[in-house]
Amino acid sequence: MTSQKISDSPIIFGCMMIGGSFDDSTLTAETIKRGRDAIDAALECGLNFFDHANIYCWGKSEEVFGRFLAENQGLRENLIIQSKCGICLANQPESGWPGRFDLSYDHILESVDGTLARLQTDYLDILLLHRPDPLVEPEEVAEAFDLLHRSGKVRDFGVSNHSPAQIELLQAYVDQPLTVNQIEYNPLHAVLHDAAIHVNMRRPQYGNPGEGIIEYCRLHGITLQAWSALAKGLLSGTHLAPDTEPRIVEAAKMVAKFAKERDVSPEAIVIAWILRHPAEIMPVIGTTHPGRIKAACEATKIELSRVEWYQIYTAAMGHSVP
Ligand SMILES: NC(=O)c1ccc[n+]([C@@H]2O[C@H](COP(=O)([O-])OP(=O)(O)OC[C@H]3O[C@@H](n4cnc5c(N)ncnc54)[C@H](OP(=O)(O)O)[C@@H]3O)[C@@H](O)[C@H]2O)c1
Repeated sequence: MTSQKISDSPIIFGCMMIGGSFDDSTLTAETIKRGRDAIDAALECGLNFFDHANIYCWGKSEEVFGRFLAENQGLRENLIIQSKCGICLANQPESGWPGRFDLSYDHILESVDGTLARLQTDYLDILLLHRPDPLVEPEEVAEAFDLLHRSGKVRDFGVSNHSPAQIELLQAYVDQPLTVNQIEYNPLHAVLHDAAIHVNMRRPQYGNPGEGIIEYCRLHGITLQAWSALAKGLLSGTHLAPDTEPRIVEAAKMVAKFAKERDVSPEAIVIAWILRHPAEIMPVIGTTHPGRIKAACEATKIELSRVEWYQIYTAAMGHSVP
């Protein structure tokens, strides 16, 4: 069963920043309250799918969510909780160690145990491998996934930021189907299809690593999830610096125009642009602001036309097609 089939909403709430900050500071009552308010706002909007990673705010984001679960008994089974492993931040566990990726057997198992403890739950609905690791041994991933699946600690598995070839390599060894690929996608970062529309054209900048990911995932029933779905607010209200790229300014103007015409928020237009894609890409929204969470969820009430979708896309690319 894929995440998409078991989710009530096409939008996922990204929990990256509910822990406050990426550092070793201890959680404050204020951060816990802000995190709780954000989760409450997401639930009120009907979102039941929550995205985590072991590294978010150095574990504090999972901790805030775990406290929320503990305070709301009975909620867990109504939620889809996804987390990730595979990134080790610089200077951890020892000073001087570089930032690195680690998809080894030991790292995967240790990460999941840490995540489950912080989230105060017995199982993850979905575990994603956060980034490709050049040193990956697919046999080790397969062994770790088997153990996690058999022990009931993880129900479904997927990847993030992986190319078709990287997914194929893993899937050749892993028994469980890889059901998700989470990838950066928004009007300002549409490399997933920039390559597709520039096949055989003289625009070498679009020979890029996003090529074929959407098509591969559609062919293999892999749910695409879009991280940075709100483009960090650049199209929907963040104050733009005077030296902002013209394409961003133009795309933000286009988003504001459609928002006014349809009487919805600019956030709704940005998320509706992702939802308009026929691959049924699930936006992962990362705002912690309750008003912006509600604004983004208005996207499910509208559908952009083909013309509107292309107007935003070409404005954001900075040139027209063909
Ligand atoms: N798989 C991966 O490699 C990966 C990488 C990054 C993120 N993710 C996941 O994707 C989720 C979303 O990613 P994201 O946080 O990068 O994306 P996002 O949803 O595009 O942006 C959220 C950030 O932009 C700010 N923002 C949004 N609209 C704004 C506005 N109108 N005015 C001012 N600030 C605004 C938010 O601040 P406020 O909170 O103040 O609104 C927040 O810091 C994360 O939570 C995480 O779950 C995955």
